[in-house]
Amino acid sequence: MLTTEQILERRDWALGGVNLSGYGEIGRGKVRDFYELDPQRRLVVTTDRQSAFDRVLGLIPFKGQVLNQLSRFWFEHTADLVPNHLLDVPDPNVMVVKRAEMFPVEVIVRGFLTGVTDTSLWVMYQEGNRAMYGLEFPDGLKKNQPLPTPIITPTTHAEVGGHDRPLSRETILNEGLVAPEHWQTIERAALAVFARGQEIARQAGLVLVDTKYEFGLIDGQVALVDEVHTPDSSRYWLADTYQARFDQGQEPDNFDKELLRLWMREQGFRGDGEPPALTDDIIARLSQRYQACYEKLTGQTFEVDFSLKPEDRIRHNLKKAGL
Ligand SMILES: Nc1ncnc2c1ncn2[C@@H]1O[C@H](COP(=O)(O)OP(=O)(O)O)[C@@H](O)[C@H]1O
Ligand SMILES: [Mg+2]
Repeated sequence: MLTTEQILERRDWALGGVNLSGYGEIGRGKVRDFYELDPQRRLVVTTDRQSAFDRVLGLIPFKGQVLNQLSRFWFEHTADLVPNHLLDVPDPNVMVVKRAEMFPVEVIVRGFLTGVTDTSLWVMYQEGNRAMYGLEFPDGLKKNQPLPTPIITPTTHAEVGGHDRPLSRETILNEGLVAPEHWQTIERAALAVFARGQEIARQAGLVLVDTKYEFGLIDGQVALVDEVHTPDSSRYWLADTYQARFDQGQEPDNFDKELLRLWMREQGFRGDGEPPALTDDIIARLSQRYQACYEKLTGQTFEVDFSLKPEDRIRHNLKKAGL
């Protein structure tokens, strides 16, 4: 893991985007830039852009590398369960992937009754809902308690500025969002990948609490795409302290980007208006949190190639890979 000094010294190295002339840019998400290699293959560049509350707040050095390398780890550790889009990782921040026809549904899997947003189980439950996402819940459940078995709580894939809408299997099938045979495959794959994720996280001393998957069709087959079990798409807690803290009615120790949400709240931000500007302190802490998550889960030391600026290194590595 890099020291605070190493991170802050390289603040101007943070990757806000990359201009790859010679490759056709086809899109830009909040965090990733896409280029088309040919009709079947894309380059995905994971930048250091930090999003929260559905907007980009700034840059966190080395975060893009963590997300890219962690997704690679998870694609490799789940490839026996479901096909995925990964072809190659020519650079720490870049993946070559197969183009997928995306399903218009975000597949969220939850192992615990928790969350802070409008579509989270705990917030809906606390408001008195007992039927959520097509499932029934009993009275008397406590915040942060494990569900008897992980469940799928799908939502729509919100347009920019829009809000996710809770779905159920019934709505997905009735509205024809996903064909029934594909939805069945997606449900099975999502639960299997989540179980694998919980198992590997557990061995690393973490609890995989919930996560978001995206699926698409590649060559007519359901495939896992986008990112997998990163601290951006998932909630992680420290396993060691979970039970004692739960028993005492305390919040679990978070090990993901909850750090940022809590910090923003401390600054008085409630989700509306201008978000607070990120300080050096939160930038370094957040970068280290992402790196620590990578190191814990993979058992590898997080290492950075300091010989070239990321943008130059990416161009160099793409050329070297013959892309
Ligand atoms: N293999 C793929 N083929 C086509 N689209 C993909 C593939 N993998 C991911 N995507 C899409 O690329 C985008 C990921 O970029 P990101 O910056 O995370 O976007 P967002 O702001 O929507 O989260 C998502 O819209 C996702 O649905
Ligand atoms: Mg995304």
